[in-house]
Amino acid sequence: MRKILAAGNWKMNNTPSQAVAMINELKGKVAGCKNDVLLCPTFVCLDAAVKAAEGSNIKIGAQNLHFEDKGAYTGEISAQMLREIGVEYVIIGHSERREYFAETDDTVNAKVIQALKYELIPVLCCGETLKQREDKVTFDFIRSQIKIAFRNISKEDATKIVVAYEPIWAIGTGKVATSEQANEVCKDIRECLAGIYDKETADNIRILYGGSVNKDCAAELFAMSDIDGGLVGGASLKPDDFSIICNA
Ligand code: PGA
Repeated sequence: MRKILAAGNWKMNNTPSQAVAMINELKGKVAGCKNDVLLCPTFVCLDAAVKAAEGSNIKIGAQNLHFEDKGAYTGEISAQMLREIGVEYVIIGHSERREYFAETDDTVNAKVIQALKYELIPVLCCGETLKQREDKVTFDFIRSQIKIAFRNISKEDATKIVVAYEPIWAIGTGKVATSEQANEVCKDIRECLAGIYDKETADNIRILYGGSVNKDCAAELFAMSDIDGGLVGGASLKPDDFSIICNA
């Protein structure tokens, strides 16, 4: 049985003090929530966020990591650094990183492997552009992203990964995919994973939907057969809205 995960991606928002205030506000609202709750603040907020979330059911994740252990990579953050401050998850391959920071399927794969090596749970993002959807290549494109992202990953490790299907045309646009549109891609991702591994493994991997998830559509999305929660941007910056999503 896959447990629903409501994950907030704060992107480049909130200072450390704002992050702590928001977590303190959210804690009470999600106490007793039966779904898993995850917040992903910026690197400089992580230490304060982990401390603020201590003793609550809120987990903390980073938005990125480097694929090497350490070395001359100015401005980068390693998996070991994240682990040492108590971070448990890491978003990998978000479309904004692929688009603005030249991340490729290969670097995404290297980052997933690195995260697993340090026992961080990867939240692996994939998703098509509007043009790809219109050209009817969505399924092929996502399958190619998934196949490369899971390259050289054992069956056992694969079940630790959370996949986030985020159609790029739905991110930050207010245009949510319909629950049927989102579910059919999530289902196809699961079939692709069953092809790489086997059905049992695929059935154990959580697949989230992301892209303009809000308090009004979350419950319907999360109730779909192959959607196991959401990766939420804008609405995760509003504790009232995000708590409704977490409890969906
Ligand atoms: P959004 O962002 O909810 O603001 O569309 C989702 C994401 O980019 O993870």
